[in-house]
Amino acid sequence: MSHRLGVLISGRGSNLQSIVDAILRGELQAEIAVVISNRQEAAGLMRAREARLETVCVLQKDYASRELYDAAVVGVLQAHGVDLVCLAGFMRLIGEPLLEAFPNRVLNIHPSLLPAFPGLDAQRQALEHGVRVAGATVHLVDAELDGGAIVLQGAVPVLDADTVESLSARILVEEHRLYPRAIARVLDGKWRLVGRRFVVDAAAASA
Ligand code: GRF
Repeated sequence: MSHRLGVLISGRGSNLQSIVDAILRGELQAEIAVVISNRQEAAGLMRAREARLETVCVLQKDYASRELYDAAVVGVLQAHGVDLVCLAGFMRLIGEPLLEAFPNRVLNIHPSLLPAFPGLDAQRQALEHGVRVAGATVHLVDAELDGGAIVLQGAVPVLDADTVESLSARILVEEHRLYPRAIARVLDGKWRLVGRRFVVDAAAASA
């Protein structure tokens, strides 16, 4: 059975596009069952429609609480038979209803080498801190902000002449390379968690 992804976005959707492109190139054996946005004006919705993907907007204003909002998102994901949830610039904290419905089945991409620089404006934080190496992280989502076991990381240099924009652009190229590969790794199932560590299971991998 083909794996079915649910991709959650709030904005531009370039990571969504990288997943679409990896599937089209045959590098990711999956289909995108639904794209969910919490913003009607998200540019990523246009990309999704151009790729002829099913899109659903779930807006906070339609729900009385965070729990009810999350439950509605779970309902949409389950109605589309999703088995892996990919956050791709989804600007909301993920609550218990979603984590309980998809245990260890929610991924996020963050534009820093976690655990450095969690939260907003990670690229600006890295530049202002003066690190010489920055990058991106794909991790399993847990209740902590940008917490959870790390699946893959990719590093890029920070150059003296960098601005937030130039560093963000360099990191974004890495994000687009990383996310489809991390999704494929999680979907192949040949891994286990050892404490916080995402460990590729040698026995399972050679089976
Ligand atoms: C990316 O930098 C991602 O790492 C972060 O939000 C941004 C989303 O960009 N979580 P896009 O919408 O995928 O273009």
